[in-house]
Amino acid sequence: MNNKTLLFVFLTFFPVSSFSQISAELATSQAAIASAHPLATQAGIDILTQGGNAFDAAIAVTATLAVVEPYSSGLGGGGFYLLHQSEADRYVMLDAREKAPIRAHKELYLDKTGQVVSGASINGALSAGIPGIPAALVHLAENYGKLPLSKTLVAAISFSQQGFPVDEYYQRMVRFRLTALQENKAASEIFLQQGAVPELDYRIVQKDLAKTLQLIADSGFAGFYQNEQAWMMVKDVRKHGGIWTIKDLATYKIKERSPDGVVYKGMKLTAASLPSSGGLVLSVILRILAEFDIEKMDEAQRIHHIVEAMRLAYHDRAEYMGDPDFVDVPVDYLISDSRIKLLAASINPHTATASALLKSIAQPSGNGIDTTHFSIIDKQGNKVSATLSINYPFGSCFVAEGTGVLLNDEMDDFVSKPGVPNVYGLVGSHANAIKPGKRMLSSMTPSIVETQNRIAVIGTPGGSRIITMVLLGILDFYENKSADEIVNAGRFHHQYLPDKIFYEPTVFDEPLVKALQKLGHNTKTMDNVYGNMQVIVLDKKSGQIEAASDSRGIGSAKILH
Ligand code: GLY
Repeated sequence: MNNKTLLFVFLTFFPVSSFSQISAELATSQAAIASAHPLATQAGIDILTQGGNAFDAAIAVTATLAVVEPYSSGLGGGGFYLLHQSEADRYVMLDAREKAPIRAHKELYLDKTGQVVSGASINGALSAGIPGIPAALVHLAENYGKLPLSKTLVAAISFSQQGFPVDEYYQRMVRFRLTALQENKAASEIFLQQGAVPELDYRIVQKDLAKTLQLIADSGFAGFYQNEQAWMMVKDVRKHGGIWTIKDLATYKIKERSPDGVVYKGMKLTAASLPSSGGLVLSVILRILAEFDIEKMDEAQRIHHIVEAMRLAYHDRAEYMGDPDFVDVPVDYLISDSRIKLLAASINPHTATASALLKSIAQPSGNGIDTTHFSIIDKQGNKVSATLSINYPFGSCFVAEGTGVLLNDEMDDFVSKPGVPNVYGLVGSHANAIKPGKRMLSSMTPSIVETQNRIAVIGTPGGSRIITMVLLGILDFYENKSADEIVNAGRFHHQYLPDKIFYEPTVFDEPLVKALQKLGHNTKTMDNVYGNMQVIVLDKKSGQIEAASDSRGIGSAKILH
């Protein structure tokens, strides 16, 4: 599907115009930032107090997270920025997703017998796509911000030079990826302490990363994607079995896309569009759920209906979705009224559908701890909802020597082989097969949601579970819950395959589990809680802001009066 079609979808599903007039009046006395790390939240707040707008603050938060949360996002990764320019009442999505290198092909991760080589798309230089975050920083500064990169990157450069202290969260992430980090000398020197998990308060200093950030501040796009920096990255990637070329970097482009939109019972959702599957999967789920009165159902029936809608939409994800510049995703068909009604009618209130019965085309692994999200509203009412990633914790665990840039392992988000699950247990079809220059399908779902009275900027990390977490957050927002209640609510998830409802410990009590099992659902308690949601809620009448950072993480939310 091309951008024109996306625009059509966007307009078609946004009949509510009165909302925007109310929003435009909202230039408000408060601003807020919620992010996954206190140093990043503060860096963004400092930029707002220096006269920057939400987009400048987004640059500072992105760059600081790249330094202090290296297990989640970084210059070597990608992401999606959903922007709302208040004065023009304009929504736009910056697609800063990684792209496959020119030398990539659909059998890149298969051995001679056609089997997927375990770990090849997750660890090391071959697993890295061409990064988009540095281009996003430059694009934001050149097109949306008010301040130069020499100001907005100051905090990140300083934290790289002076270091930041190791906390328990950092230690946990390192333990999860210790072996892979030990395998790369540059990564081990930067992120470990003599090859082992660093002690608490040990300082992670990243001098090479500071130089790279300074190059971006001085020379913009060329500072990262061209010249000496590009040569250094390509040389080291190739030395370690990767396939990057100079041309891959020089031709990287940010794509501005129309976000997806859907109205659920009068609530307007704007969310990331393809190549993120988030907006489209949410559109299918919410349009199915709009056919029911789930708000009036008892708990087991409500969860049953939500799970059935998740199953159907994740099946669509697996079968149809991929980079719209490479495959024709039948968006109009997927969300057409007639089809949605048929899908809704297929939900039996008395019995769960077996996923195996859906047209054919693994427990999700990890704890939903990779990736990051931040939310921003400034005093002019501009908004940024951004979800950024290097994929698995510490990405590929490969640092390009001399640059400090930790590369992503986002190539794993492609389908290495149809039907074989990726690291999140997600399966897919040819629509998400590897092709040179193609962007891998994502679940990142930065969103902005609006009712008659309130607006929320919302998102979370969490791999394949991002979309269902955002869904539950949106449904809580619809029921007028506070920002705190939204980020801290219990979570459950279904992604078509494996055919199980996964839920956080203690979220479902025994009678509820029994009721769901009686309906035919397989249920599975997760070992850990998951997600790290960052939410800002604006009350449209009073202009009051609430901001909340998920208590599962170490982030912080701050309001600027
Ligand atoms: N790497 C996780 C995602 O983009 O969905």
